[in-house]
Amino acid sequence: MKKKTADYSHLKPEQPIGIFDSGVGGLTVAKEIKRLLPNENLIYFGDTKHLPYGDKSKEAIIEYSTKITDFLLKNSCKAIVIACNTATANALKEVQHLVSGAVPIIDVINPVAEKVAYEIHNNIGVIATKATVSSGLYKKSIRKHNKFIKVDELATPLLVPAIEEGFKNHPITHAIIYNYLSNHRLKNIETLILGCTHYPLLIEEIKQYYGNRVRVIDSPNIVASQLKMIMDKHHLLNTNNPNPNYHFYLSDITKNFEKISKKFFGKAIDLELKVL
Ligand code: DGL
Repeated sequence: MKKKTADYSHLKPEQPIGIFDSGVGGLTVAKEIKRLLPNENLIYFGDTKHLPYGDKSKEAIIEYSTKITDFLLKNSCKAIVIACNTATANALKEVQHLVSGAVPIIDVINPVAEKVAYEIHNNIGVIATKATVSSGLYKKSIRKHNKFIKVDELATPLLVPAIEEGFKNHPITHAIIYNYLSNHRLKNIETLILGCTHYPLLIEEIKQYYGNRVRVIDSPNIVASQLKMIMDKHHLLNTNNPNPNYHFYLSDITKNFEKISKKFFGKAIDLELKVL
C-alpha cells in the first residue's frame, strides 16, 4: 500500500517550532536550529524538575514526553523536535500517537542513524544514557540501513549530572570521560556518536581524549538540517522574521540553564517556570 503523504496545509510559517529535552542538552540542538533557521520563532521546554531522564523508567519518560508535547501543541507549534535521545528511544511511538499527524516530528536518533549508515563504513561507538542504551535503538536504526556496520553502545550516566552542574573543563569531568572512553567496548571504534544531546557541551574534552583517532559525529547539525528540509518541503519555512521570539519554559529554573541559554541565545530571552 502506498504511504499517504502528510498534509500540513493547516499550518503557517509564523508558528513556532517546539523543542524539548530534560534540561540543557536540547540547547545544543536549539542552537544549531537557530543557526540554520535564523528567522524561526522557537519554544523550548526543559524538564529540569525530572532530570535526568536517563535513569527513569520507560513509563515515566513516556508520561513526561507526552505531557510536554501536548503543551507544545497547545502553544501552536508547527513542528515538534524531540531534542532528547532518551525521550526518542523510549517515547517516540507515544509522541507520534498523540500528535497523530497534525505536525511533523523530528527526533534525534533516526536522522543520525540513517546518515551514518550510508556515510560511515567502519566501527561505530555510541555513548548515551542508560535508558537509551537499553532500548538498543541506535543499533537497530543503523543496522536497518546497513547491516554490515558494527555498533557498540556504552551507557555513560555520570556525564549528564556533571554537565547540568556546569562542570566543564573540570578535573571531575575529565576523570569521568577518561573512565568511560577507555572502556574495552569502545576499544576499536573509528567513529563516535554522542547519543545524548547534553554531550556536545563536552565535545572539546571528548575530542581531546581521542586526538585525531576517532571521528565525532555532529548530531545537532544533522537534526537541524533534517528539520530545515522538512519545513522547506512543506512550505513552512519562516523566512521573513528578522526578530524571532525565543521562549524558554523550565519545570525548575536552574542557574546553569540560565547561563547556557543566554550564552547561546543572547540576554533578552524569555525564561518562564512551568510545571506540567
Ligand atoms: N539530553 C538527553 C538525551 O539526549 C537526556 C539526558 C537525561 O536527562 O538523562 O538523552
